[in-house]
Amino acid sequence: MRKPVIAGNWKMNKTPSEAAEMIQALKPLVEGAKPTVVLCVPAVCLPAAKKAVRGSRIKLGAQNIHFEASGAYTGEHSAAMLKEAGAEYAIIGHSERRAYFGETDETVNRRAVAALRGGLIPIICVGETRAQREAGYTNALVSYQALIALTGMTADEVKKVIIAYEPVWAIGTGLTASDEEANATIGVIREAVAGVYGKRAANAVRIQYGGSMNPKNVAGLMAQPEIDGGLIGGASLKAEDFAKVVNYAE
Ligand code: PGA
Repeated sequence: MRKPVIAGNWKMNKTPSEAAEMIQALKPLVEGAKPTVVLCVPAVCLPAAKKAVRGSRIKLGAQNIHFEASGAYTGEHSAAMLKEAGAEYAIIGHSERRAYFGETDETVNRRAVAALRGGLIPIICVGETRAQREAGYTNALVSYQALIALTGMTADEVKKVIIAYEPVWAIGTGLTASDEEANATIGVIREAVAGVYGKRAANAVRIQYGGSMNPKNVAGLMAQPEIDGGLIGGASLKAEDFAKVVNYAE
């Protein structure tokens, strides 16, 4: 069975001291958590967060990585840098990176491969805009985005990957795909992975839902058989809210 992963995406929020404070508040609230708990924090918060998570099962992630190991890439961070700073996961190809920072399917693929080979688990984001959804392209688009992102990986590597299905129209809007719609689209992504990498890899890869997931809607979404966790933005910023999402089964 696939172990669920609940990952927070803080985006550009919190200073290092604020990060440490929130993690101290979160620790006792998620002590008995059944899912894997990950916080993807701003890179500059990783050292403080690494200290703060000591003695807990909270894992840390970055929000992006560069595909090269080092070099003249001003403003970027390599997998090795982020790993040493405390990250075990890295969000790759978030829709905000695609929309505001020129991220393409090709760079998403290069970053995802670099994350894996650098010892980080990539959380690869895919998802359709409202216009794409209305035009009927959702299934084709998310399948394409997922397969391009995985290009060059072996089936064994694909098993380690996390994919986050995040409909762009649901991010930060309070709108969510219905439980059934999210489940069906994630099923389509899994089928696409099976078509290229085989059923075993497809059954192992964890596929999260993301987009306004919160303490109220988490249980319904997580009850769906294809949904293996969540990528949570707004509701990951306060310890009490995020703990409620993590402890959705209680
Ligand atoms: P949201 O963000 O939960 O605030 O909608 C999710 C995400 O962007 O990963």
